[in-house]
Amino acid sequence: MVAVREVLNQPAVQASVRDGARIDVRHVSHRFALRGAALPVLQDVSFSVEPGEFVALLGPSGCGKSTLLRLVAGLDAPTEGSVNADGAAIAGPDPARVVVFQDPTLYPWRTVRGNVAIGPQAQRRRFARRDAAHEEKAQNRIDAALELVGLSEFAEAFPHQLSGGMAQRVALARALVNDPALLVLDEPFGKLDSLTRIRMQGELARLWQDARFSVLLVTHDVEEALLLANRVIVFSERPARVVAEVCNDAPYPRHRDDPKLVALRREVLAQLGLDT
Ligand SMILES: Nc1ncnc2c1ncn2[C@@H]1O[C@H](COP(=O)(O)OP(=O)(O)OP(=O)(O)O)[C@@H](O)[C@H]1O
Ligand SMILES: [Mg+2]
Repeated sequence: MVAVREVLNQPAVQASVRDGARIDVRHVSHRFALRGAALPVLQDVSFSVEPGEFVALLGPSGCGKSTLLRLVAGLDAPTEGSVNADGAAIAGPDPARVVVFQDPTLYPWRTVRGNVAIGPQAQRRRFARRDAAHEEKAQNRIDAALELVGLSEFAEAFPHQLSGGMAQRVALARALVNDPALLVLDEPFGKLDSLTRIRMQGELARLWQDARFSVLLVTHDVEEALLLANRVIVFSERPARVVAEVCNDAPYPRHRDDPKLVALRREVLAQLGLDT
C-alpha cells in the first residue's frame, strides 16, 4: 500500500503540483422550484475549507448536503450568496475539484480501467501530451488507483459485472487518479460492506495526510466524520443551516475508541438532537 500511495501522491499526468484548494461558502441560500412553489433547501450557510483541510458535513437526510456539494462542484449556482475557490467565484466544474457522487455514474461501455482513465485521457487531449514517459506515468497512476481500491483484478470488467460497492470504489479511484486540489465526496463509502469501509477510511486518511488536497466529505456517519475530519460541520433539518462546527485535533492515525473521539461523538450527536 505504501507504494500505491507514493505513486498517487506524485503529481498527476500534467506536471503542475497543486496545493489544496481554499473554499469559501458565504451566506449561501438555495431554493428549488417544486410544483410551482419555492422549496428552500439551504439557508444562509457560511463556512470555509482551508487549504489541505479535511471538513466533514453531517446532517439529516434530505436537508440539502448534496445540493451544497453541487454548488461547490460548480454544477449549480446558489440562489443567494457566493461560493469561491481560492478567492475566485466558482463558475462551473473544474478538473481540480473532483466529485464522487452518492450514486457512482460509470460509463457502461467502458471497462473499470477505461472509467478510471477518463481524467488522464482528457488531460492528454487538452495538453496534447503523447510522449511515452508521460503515458507510462499515467498508466502507473491508474494501476495504483485501482490497487488502492482493491480492484486490480477487475480492471477489465465492465460496470454491469460489478457490485454496488465495487462501482463506488471505481468512482473513488477515478477521482484520486486526477490529483485533485479539492476532493468532494458524497457518502463515498455508503454502499461498502463494513470491512471494506474501514479499510477505505484508513486509506483515504493516509492518502490525504501524505498529499495536499482539501477534502469536503458528506456523510451520515458520525464516527466516520470524526475518524477522518479536522472539522465537522453539523446542519439542521431542511432548509439546512449550520448549527455547529466541531473542531477535531486528535492526531492521525485515529482510532474509533479513542476517548477524545467518543466524547466528540456525544457532542455531535447532541447537536443533531440525538443525545440519549
Ligand atoms: N433538482 C431538484 N429539484 C427540486 N428539488 C430538489 C432537487 N434536488 C434536490 N431537491 C430537494 O432538495 C432537498 C435536499 O436534497 P439533497 O439531495 O441536497 O439532500 P441531502 O442532504 O443530500 O439528503 P441525503 O442525506 O438523503 O442524501 C430535498 O428535499 C430534495 O427533494
Ligand atoms: Mg445527499
